[in-house]
Amino acid sequence: MTIRLRSIELALPDPAAAAAFMTQIWGMAEAGTRGSTQYLRGSGPYPYLVAFDRAEDEYVRSTTFVCDEDELAALTQRAAKAGWPWRSVTSQDLGGGHGIELEMPEGVLLRFLADSEDAAPLVGRDLPVKLTHVVFNAADAEAVGDAAEAVLGFKVSDRTKGMVFVRCNESHHSTAFARAGFTSLNHIAFEMEDIDAVMRGIGRLRDHAQTPAWGPGRHGPGANVYAYYIAPFGPVIEFSTAVEKVPEDYKVGAPEDWTWPEGRIDQWGLSDKDFDGLRQAEERFRFRRTWTPEVA
Ligand SMILES: [Fe+2]
Repeated sequence: MTIRLRSIELALPDPAAAAAFMTQIWGMAEAGTRGSTQYLRGSGPYPYLVAFDRAEDEYVRSTTFVCDEDELAALTQRAAKAGWPWRSVTSQDLGGGHGIELEMPEGVLLRFLADSEDAAPLVGRDLPVKLTHVVFNAADAEAVGDAAEAVLGFKVSDRTKGMVFVRCNESHHSTAFARAGFTSLNHIAFEMEDIDAVMRGIGRLRDHAQTPAWGPGRHGPGANVYAYYIAPFGPVIEFSTAVEKVPEDYKVGAPEDWTWPEGRIDQWGLSDKDFDGLRQAEERFRFRRTWTPEVA
């Protein structure tokens, strides 16, 4: 199981404004444009991490993982057998590649690509390295987590009162499903080089009068450092680093294994959490399937 999270593809009315925030303040590099789609990258070898398509309203087009041909074939077979909507694709995004797009129960749209091309890393730039996780809200997170195991071949790492954390390689989680009662994008987390890079990111946003909606802090499951912001173009985005690497036989934690002392919801206890603001932002980006499934 060595599937890797690569990128997220969002549609929104003003991609240029979103890209300007991400490059000038958040700290990403422009990777190019195709038609009305703008691509932004980090310092790592992926051709882009975030794509912004122009559309009249806001939605998630896909979240993209990369894998090998064998994994792709097995995944396609399992998705078809499970009756999930899916189709074969040749990616028109930067890096190309072929694979499948599929729709999970509740509508989460994922794309898996084999043979997509990497780019030369950007050395010496203070940028996110890659995405470390994309989290989704779910009406029934337990069922969607089970589906991720059965059909995607992912593994549940931990369950908490709020989330089902799921991995697709040695990283504790590359996605998670929040027990939200509705389906949407929960947040996008960018992997920073180290804690200093997270702190410098917080400093950059502070220069523009933006404070974290939650953080800095260190989570329980995954033990990663975080700082969450509500992006001016809508979604919740996170600086993160140092997510735990876990072995194949990692013992799946249950909600009772992940409780906090009174007054704490992370390891450090430094910051308050803007629950209402975060929840409102989490409701904005839903999933929209713009493709027609293949018929078996
Ligand atoms: Fe996160």
